[in-house]
Amino acid sequence: MTIEQQIKAVIRDVKDFPKPGIVFKDITPILKHPQLCNDIADEYVRRLDGVKIDEVAAIESRGFLFGMMIAHKLHVPFVPIRKKGKLPYKTIEQSYNLEYGQATLEVHADAIDEGKIVLIHDDLLATGGTIDAAAKLIEKLGAKVGAISFLVELDFLKGREKLLPHSNQIISLVNYQ
Ligand code: PRP
Ligand code: ADE
Repeated sequence: MTIEQQIKAVIRDVKDFPKPGIVFKDITPILKHPQLCNDIADEYVRRLDGVKIDEVAAIESRGFLFGMMIAHKLHVPFVPIRKKGKLPYKTIEQSYNLEYGQATLEVHADAIDEGKIVLIHDDLLATGGTIDAAAKLIEKLGAKVGAISFLVELDFLKGREKLLPHSNQIISLVNYQ
């Protein structure tokens, strides 16, 4: 089985979560398969071959799962981007709209040095609002978005279009039409 088939075989659809009308893609069953988790992280590294990445920034909470694994495999620092009010030190913030609501992301003001090239990672691309906000935070710090990666892309929500102004290196392992 390809890695895409292996991931699709374990992702589970949960209807009407967290709101009526949303079909939620639950990635947590992947975590029961340590070899698959390792293969997923290796697949990102393979697809990033030739792309210069200085740091990996990932988005709370599900983005942390593979974001840290990718940073570890690339031997680069990891930067947590969190929902408002969770990071303890001085932060900068950016608000955005979600498929099912509104939220604000924060990053520590000293998290990334100017000029660094950053991979942004999250578990899933829906409308693109979350990654667009994360990219704006990185750019506010004077760093650059070198690539963006996801496990899952919901093609029908066209989030990718929102991300192209930040980077054209967009990697998703699994797509749903
Ligand atoms: C989910 C998902 C992405 C975001 C994608 O996060 O993990 O971060 O939505 O949606 P978008 O492309 O429309 O912005 P959620 O805000 O549910 O948070 P969680 O990971 O902490 O559960
Ligand atoms: N984030 C935004 N939309 C989502 C969905 N349908 N499933 C899982 N996470 C999401």
